[in-house]
Amino acid sequence: IDQSKIRNFSIVAHIDHGKSTLADRIIEMTGLLTSREMQSQVLDNMELERERGITIKAQACRIIYNAQDGQEYILNMIDTPGHVDFNYEVSRSLAACDGAVLVVDATQGVEAQTLGNVYLALDDDLEIVPVINKIDLPSADPQRVIEEIEDIIGIEAQDAPQISAKTGEHVDQVLEAIVRKIPAPKGDRNAPLKALIFDSVYDSYKGVIISVRIMDGKVRRGSRIKMMATGAVEEVVEVGYFGPGQFIPCDELDAGMVGYITASIKNVSSTRVGDTVTEADRPCEKALPGYKKVQPMVYCGIYPADSAKYQDLRDALEKLQLNDASLSYEPETSAALGFGFRCGFLGLLHLEVVQERLEREYDLDLVTTAPGVVYRVHKTDGSMMELTNPSNLPDPSEIDYMEEPVVRAEIMVTTEFVGSIMQLCEERRGVYIGMDYMEQTRAVLHYRLPLNEIIYDFFDALKSRSRGYASLDYELDGYQRSDLVKLDILVNKETVDALSFIVFADSAYERGRKMCEKLKEEIPRQLFDIPIQAAVNSRIIARETVKALRKDVLAKCYGGDISRKKKLLEKQKEGKKKMRQIGSVEIPQKAFLNVLKLD
Ligand code: GTP
Repeated sequence: IDQSKIRNFSIVAHIDHGKSTLADRIIEMTGLLTSREMQSQVLDNMELERERGITIKAQACRIIYNAQDGQEYILNMIDTPGHVDFNYEVSRSLAACDGAVLVVDATQGVEAQTLGNVYLALDDDLEIVPVINKIDLPSADPQRVIEEIEDIIGIEAQDAPQISAKTGEHVDQVLEAIVRKIPAPKGDRNAPLKALIFDSVYDSYKGVIISVRIMDGKVRRGSRIKMMATGAVEEVVEVGYFGPGQFIPCDELDAGMVGYITASIKNVSSTRVGDTVTEADRPCEKALPGYKKVQPMVYCGIYPADSAKYQDLRDALEKLQLNDASLSYEPETSAALGFGFRCGFLGLLHLEVVQERLEREYDLDLVTTAPGVVYRVHKTDGSMMELTNPSNLPDPSEIDYMEEPVVRAEIMVTTEFVGSIMQLCEERRGVYIGMDYMEQTRAVLHYRLPLNEIIYDFFDALKSRSRGYASLDYELDGYQRSDLVKLDILVNKETVDALSFIVFADSAYERGRKMCEKLKEEIPRQLFDIPIQAAVNSRIIARETVKALRKDVLAKCYGGDISRKKKLLEKQKEGKKKMRQIGSVEIPQKAFLNVLKLD
């Protein structure tokens, strides 16, 4: 294939501006699928993505396009997620491309993640092709949005295609712009193989499937390849490219192409996203720069509901990590929950998605502990420890001071809501840095905020206080000293380690009280009174009591027939499996999750 006829691009946008819809239209228009075969959001093929209507995983697809110049082009398109939690996924996809189509909603204009994505694309020196979407809507104002793109982002946008991804209007102009503006790949076909692994997935038939962008050289069935970072050498079993939601084998992938490789990869851990694939016998000189290692922002413990499933959970995590390089995990034990893993995530949405994927794709029942950020504990002996699990907090007498992570947040909002958003930021211990006006009606607020104030419900609060008009982007900005304490929850006088977490000292009382109230609702009454207490440094700050049960459950069956009685006991036994024994008290599994959802 002639390299000058290849275009590799990603579609990026702020959430809901219409990337996936545009990807669908492009697939339909280029005849890959007829409109009858078309189901909406073809590339969002994960069940979870369809349910939630969001893109979680980047997906690649190869398209043949007959351009107006009479030539046939091969377009490799990668649809990417929009939510800030999945930024890492975006930056990985971009590194495999030569250009990015930037979709901007004509009714909304430039939003926080529009900018965020532009910066990611510029990091990779990509050509940016702006596209104005949703012009079919009555409130669309394309000219204003074009000016915004030029003012705020600083790229030429007068000739940006103005389209409706929904109706298909002018989508052909997007394809023409891709062909004309995005540069063709430039790789040396005869040089040693050099390919970037930008994704991978575990398939029960094919084994590990790696997605690659070939920078130089070529690869075919039978080639002996080497993973440069891990040193693993494998024989290629199959190469191919991506159809919509499927793998299509081909003879060879060469410089400039995007496709997949399967090999006799036995050890899942020998492939690493970001690594360079080369030839075993003729390695290239230098590996590609790869990706920055991601810093998880949020940690929590994940435990199998049935402790016999520990090994299954380990296997599932290992396979899921292949497909989600931003997930990290290591084994830990909890007195309350037994053997499990401490896992790191990019945000709370990411955590939820991973938990759901583990439960659905690997058929596991899980219990998660309170999510928290990484604190730094400076001890009196001068050493510092990074704390990801609150249970490991040293005795207060050994602690000199503690620090918590802070972020730099950019919040875009229409001017009428600036006041209420500023108030929200103050409540969350934010420090005001400044404000810029983008036009008369919109502003960007800059704040420094503690990460643990924004990971839980900040996003929702932002939306509800601005009637959906505010958008947020943030990045980690170091640590700050802070007055933090560990809040423990005691059930029947025993500390439940899975419920301990670190809070800002001034919020401890409020938080503790709410958790006790919530737990009281969750724990079924038993034969004795159960005190539920919240404590800071062994000092009780809140208490609730689950009153003792008076009646025998079987009493109502008294004199009744024996099979009914049996059934009742049977049902209780079932229920017991979903219980956790804490000392002499049984706590329902769902309580662990529910008490964390406070607000
Ligand atoms: P994420 O994948 O979650 O990041 O979102 P996205 O940017 O891919 O947005 P998606 O394609 O899912 O579209 C969001 C919503 O906008 C959907 O309800 C679409 O039907 C709608 N939409 C997309 N394009 C258009 C358009 O041109 N006109 C109208 N009226 N609606 C559109």
